Amino acid sequence: MSRSEDIRNEVYRFLRQQKEFRYPDPILPGFKGIGKGSAIAAASTAAGATRKTAAGTIATTAPASAPAAARTDLAGARAELGECTRCGLHGQRTNLVFGVGNPNAKLMFIGEAPGADEDRKGEPFVGRAGQLLDKIFAAAEIRREDVYITNIVKCRPPGNRDPHPDEVTTCNPFLLQQIDAIQPQLICALGRFAAQTLLDKTEGIGRLRGRWFDWHGKRLICTYHPSACLRNESYKRPVWNDFQMLRDAYKELVEN
Ligand code: URA
Repeated sequence: MSRSEDIRNEVYRFLRQQKEFRYPDPILPGFKGIGKGSAIAAASTAAGATRKTAAGTIATTAPASAPAAARTDLAGARAELGECTRCGLHGQRTNLVFGVGNPNAKLMFIGEAPGADEDRKGEPFVGRAGQLLDKIFAAAEIRREDVYITNIVKCRPPGNRDPHPDEVTTCNPFLLQQIDAIQPQLICALGRFAAQTLLDKTEGIGRLRGRWFDWHGKRLICTYHPSACLRNESYKRPVWNDFQMLRDAYKELVEN
């Protein structure tokens, strides 16, 4: 991915943020973002049977290239994923970024996709966004080694663009296997893309954050992505509010 494409993707992200804050959008007046009726929603429905719940839609049968049956073992899921070539993202990756943390975590964080640093190291949230996440963890008294961290897709999209619908659909069974294996009681979706994908909702992250959802019997909260906080300081306060909600729920779980 060229530098100019990197910059273009950054500009798109920034404009999307502006739109969420309802600032006038002088450059992309018709830009609608991702949501219902979008390619992502259409592809995830086309990819396999889906189960509709109050919290949204989730694939219950895997697309052709994915494993046939859900496993409840994290190592087994990783082995099944192997050196994955199921979608186009594999061609440009350095490392597949499966996930890291406590296999029995009560709390799981799900981001969008690995960035350049994560691709290099093979571990999620180790770049600038990860460093900010670590600071938020420390402030919320959440130990990184106690939780589990992963992403919607396991390979870096070129230039940090949003993952494409087919990439999300192809990776989805592995994310479900991870959740199934870990059985967290709390899930935190980091950023718009993870929130909208998990919840199958069209609202912007500004509307989805700050409240609990029932996600297949688990409590799910969404917040702004740490990268968004790095771009826009004004997100830090709402993120801290969300993390205080998360911290309180997590403390209650751990202490009882
Ligand atoms: N952003 C993400 O969504 N995930 C990572 O792992 C790193 C940055």
